[in-house]
Amino acid sequence: MRTHFCGLIDESMVGQTVTLCGWADVARDLGGLCFIDLRDHEGIVQVVAEPSDAEGNAAVVATAAKVGYEDCLRVTGTVRRRESVNPKIRTGQVEVVATAIEVLNKAEPLPFHHHENPGEDVRLKYRYLDLRSPEMQRRMRTRTKLVAALRRWLDARDFQDIETPILTKATPEGARDFLVPARMHPGEFYALPQSPQLFKQILMMAGFDRYYQIARCFRDEALRADRQLEFTQLDMEFAWVDEAIVQDTVEQMIGDVFREVMGVELGAFPRMTWAEAMRRYGSDKPDLRIALELVDVDAQVRDSQFKVFTDAAGVDGMRVCALRIPGGAALSRKQIDEYAAHAAKYGAKGLAYAKLGEDGAVNSPVAKFFDEAAFAALLQHVGAGKGDIVFFGAGAYNTVSDFMGAVRLKAGRDFGLVEDGWKPLWVTDFPMFEFDDEAQRYVALHHPFTAPAVDDIDDLRANARTATSRGYDMVLNGNEIGGGSIRIHRPQMQAAVFELLGIGADEQQAKFGFLLDALKYGAPPHGGIAFGIDRIAALMAGTESIRDVIAFPKTTTAQCLMTGAPSPIDDAQLAEVHVAVRPKAPEGL
Ligand code: AMO
Ligand code: AMP
Repeated sequence: MRTHFCGLIDESMVGQTVTLCGWADVARDLGGLCFIDLRDHEGIVQVVAEPSDAEGNAAVVATAAKVGYEDCLRVTGTVRRRESVNPKIRTGQVEVVATAIEVLNKAEPLPFHHHENPGEDVRLKYRYLDLRSPEMQRRMRTRTKLVAALRRWLDARDFQDIETPILTKATPEGARDFLVPARMHPGEFYALPQSPQLFKQILMMAGFDRYYQIARCFRDEALRADRQLEFTQLDMEFAWVDEAIVQDTVEQMIGDVFREVMGVELGAFPRMTWAEAMRRYGSDKPDLRIALELVDVDAQVRDSQFKVFTDAAGVDGMRVCALRIPGGAALSRKQIDEYAAHAAKYGAKGLAYAKLGEDGAVNSPVAKFFDEAAFAALLQHVGAGKGDIVFFGAGAYNTVSDFMGAVRLKAGRDFGLVEDGWKPLWVTDFPMFEFDDEAQRYVALHHPFTAPAVDDIDDLRANARTATSRGYDMVLNGNEIGGGSIRIHRPQMQAAVFELLGIGADEQQAKFGFLLDALKYGAPPHGGIAFGIDRIAALMAGTESIRDVIAFPKTTTAQCLMTGAPSPIDDAQLAEVHVAVRPKAPEGL
């Protein structure tokens, strides 16, 4: 149908006849002289229909005059140099003088045009129109390049690509499972995999040395900009390894792929323990592009009269810390309230502050609880100077870290303190368990197959609260792009960890009997990692939302606006799979 792509026409082709196919990005009729910006996946070229003596010219101009947005066209014409060069597009030096225009398919008036900066709902409903835009084409191409580069890298190093089941048994990764009724087994269900975790471990026990898979994962959890119900992992597992081999290998892989796709050098990744990341940045995925750090101030507030501070200072499991923001004294009362409201979303009960005016005057609702000298010493400890604001957080360690970490990110953005470039790191030495106060039991911080740092079962049992794991996360610019661990490879340790997680012997057999069995027959030491392809693609494409690098994503209310999924199923089909739908409980029950 065509001889060339619109976006690739250039000066070397001046004088040539070309046939192009594409959409009318813009069409203008200047009264007998028509301009059409013809667009395909490569870009845009200007087509001109102008009066001439050539046979059939009048029909060409008449057709061009009727072209509307997104009409689907086939154009034949001659390439010539443009009088007025358009530096904004790659083909801006040239244009195509049409000798024939065929309307292959007329477009109805559009619900939106990509030039208009449309809202996301309408973009998702008419995703085919949205994906046509040069910006979305660029993003999706970045994703393709990423996946292709990863595959090339892994294939060259003998990683075996092995598919694992989608209809399977639950694999806990901390989310709710999606269930599929089993027609042949009334009352029974398959679960969609939250990740291929158990299958990849079994593959190591089955004699494969290095595995990878670009795997779709399914998690029924609250959606955000960086979370979808179904998302894609680069899933990897290695037999006979410790964490150094896994980390060094994938660090090199990510470095090589960023060089290839983005042309940037990530350099060697710094390593930070989870405890240090929480202490300095209030986050287990610190954004190191922002230089601001939290400072603990227990010793400086211990003797104050402010109960909120003294109740937390020096107390195990509690924290009092400060964040200095240079130039922050310029914040108005209202803006400070916005910071407090932001912190409240992360569990803060309040957000004390101290402003230091350019004249040295201190404005703080908590200064009254301190001797003047003690407050000055506190501010000095934090490094605060004229023109700064200091925010304070006090309370439970993890809550304070969370909300002060969130304040740090907001301040970084608001004050333009986010450096350009790429800041990767490894976060290591995670706690093995978190204690769930409500349920009064431990939950796994990674997943229940992660090996503890200690090898001894009694030691783990005795020190469960403070035990660390052999898990690790890769973080890039404040995003967790990958997570993995060295796994438990002995059945006794796996059973002990299940036990600590409150999974008794019967439940272990019912849910994980196959794993415990497989571990009994000579399972090698093994470990691995999984990367969030959507997140890496979004970072590479320079967009905040992974929805922008997924062709057909769900909304934050878990719907596909284009197809209308999810949708009701009729009774006959439900009966076939032995499912009855319960009426929705009335409000308030
Ligand atoms: P984890 O649960 O940390 O580990 O997931 C690995 C990576 O997948 C990405 N990710 C997501 N991306 C989009 N939407 C989601 N809902 C979502 N959830 C996770 C993140 C994350 O770092 N089986 C283990 C891996 C292992 O231990 O080898 C696992 O799935 O980038
Ligand atoms: P109050 O005396 O309760 O009005 O609190 C004085 C200041 O302390 C206010 O600015 C509150 O926002 C702040 N504040 C209260 N609770 C906390 C907390 N847990 N952490 C940090 N600041 C707090």
